[in-house]
Amino acid sequence: LASIEVDVSQIQPGQAIKTIFRKQPLFVRHLTPAEIQAANAVPTGDLRDPQTLAERTQPGKAEWLVTMGVCTHLGCVPLGAAEGENRGAYGGYFCPCHGSHYDTAGRIRKGPAPKNLEVPDYKFASDTVITVG
Ligand code: FES
Repeated sequence: LASIEVDVSQIQPGQAIKTIFRKQPLFVRHLTPAEIQAANAVPTGDLRDPQTLAERTQPGKAEWLVTMGVCTHLGCVPLGAAEGENRGAYGGYFCPCHGSHYDTAGRIRKGPAPKNLEVPDYKFASDTVITVG
């Protein structure tokens, strides 16, 4: 299966983009220090699908959150990857289909979705280019 390259150089802190990976939406988000802090402040024992931000990002690159844009409930595309969109009660992503709220690490926090937004295999090809897949 094909991998893709994503140039992240234009994504400012607090912004996210939506692209396509293997025919599905992919979100690439540049977290702000406050968003990283918010994600790290949550005890993993409180989470439905316990994972730390560090486990969901690359070493030394916690500010880059790369997830599939596919709600783990029934597959709608959550909001939050474009400026001005509703990011839900936890500041990450919000799925309007049945009201799932994801936090700034893309973890499910409220609503019917059972799992965190999936993190695909990816690596940094350089400081500004991510290879996904
Ligand atoms: Fe997202 Fe149901 S598909 S909440």
